[in-house]
Amino acid sequence: MSDTIESGDKVEVQWKGTKFSGMFISKDEKVTVIKLQNGYNLSLENSSIGSISLLSKFVQRKFSEEKVTGEGKRVFVLGTGGTIASYVDYETGAVKPAETPQEMLHAQPDLAKIASIGTEIILNILSEDMQKADWINIAKKVYERISERDGVVITHGTDVLSFTSSALSFLIENPKAPIVFTASQRSPDRPSSDAFFNLKGAVRVAQSDVGQVCVVMHSSTSDDALDIHSGVRLRKMHSSRRDAFKSINSEPIGRVDRDLRIQWRKYEKINEKPMKLYDKLSEKVGLLYFYPGLSEELFEKFAQVNDGLILAGTGLGHITNRFASRVKEYTSQGKIIGMTTQCLYGAVDLEVYTTGRNLLEAGVIPLHDMLPEVAYTKLSFLLGNFDVDTARNLLDKNLRGEISERRTE
Ligand code: DGL
Repeated sequence: MSDTIESGDKVEVQWKGTKFSGMFISKDEKVTVIKLQNGYNLSLENSSIGSISLLSKFVQRKFSEEKVTGEGKRVFVLGTGGTIASYVDYETGAVKPAETPQEMLHAQPDLAKIASIGTEIILNILSEDMQKADWINIAKKVYERISERDGVVITHGTDVLSFTSSALSFLIENPKAPIVFTASQRSPDRPSSDAFFNLKGAVRVAQSDVGQVCVVMHSSTSDDALDIHSGVRLRKMHSSRRDAFKSINSEPIGRVDRDLRIQWRKYEKINEKPMKLYDKLSEKVGLLYFYPGLSEELFEKFAQVNDGLILAGTGLGHITNRFASRVKEYTSQGKIIGMTTQCLYGAVDLEVYTTGRNLLEAGVIPLHDMLPEVAYTKLSFLLGNFDVDTARNLLDKNLRGEISERRTE
């Protein structure tokens, strides 16, 4: 390879008799990585490379402070961090988090082909560091943008994505433009990165008429389609696979194919009802995963510091009978205790076993097939914005599609 080739330059590589042209990213002792025009990174073993020739030198792209004029309906991309926020710095070859809107778009120049893109980096954190205050901050920024009728894409870490998408679903009622989350399991410097397709698909969905918060991620381990999940129905079900996200107790609401065409299933369209932003989340709500051996003392401490408690119980929605009298004490003090299942699939049913009936009698509210994290963000929203009786009354009602109206099992 010529010494003059640097990260970001356009090159042509002869590999096992085939020519590939793209952007040179890096070379180590084993492989040379180039980014193809479709955004994918290609790793080629050095031992099979015949030659690399320079096509043109890298020219630093200049972005205006916020906007790139592209083709297609305007979409605002709000960055919050996570793997998808990392980009390859062509000057050093390093992978680093994008700290400015310019850097964020620099990593995804193809986006300008499908939309007129605005960007803002609101946060640059790993999603496990998210706080409720961050959800409110994100909701306010999103609300500002969708008031202008721009679709919004929020890039996020995968770990607690379903908490944030759920919080936003409750905080913004009747959105006037699409609110679409996306993320990536593999960083953009890796040949197997899912970042580019996920982001492009999310931008496409943000140009549609969807009026509910949704999440766009790979639907299989290959690059043939993306699933569009409801923001209150998904869970990260695998720690590393690109198709880690699954809709639980419901089907994805749509699919984006390789050519970025959307096939919708059942989804909420933008409606004419007034849009509303709620800007509070109670900090006094907790989520507790019951396990054999959980001490009464720990359970008590947890219940004492919170006004609302979501339990992820076993099976149909159980915790040990030993806590039933404690539970009754707390609900009589006005605390709200809701029951979900750690099974995730299926609904709770507190009428079947004595344990469940005892919990019902102690004032526990069964939360049907709502996911534990959704119930947690929902109760935080309800206790943050309504009086306690309204919160109790709304907790088991379907507000944003988080509870199935009809269940077959
Ligand atoms: N811990 C992860 C997060 O949720 C980083 C990797 C990712 O984006 O999934 O932010």
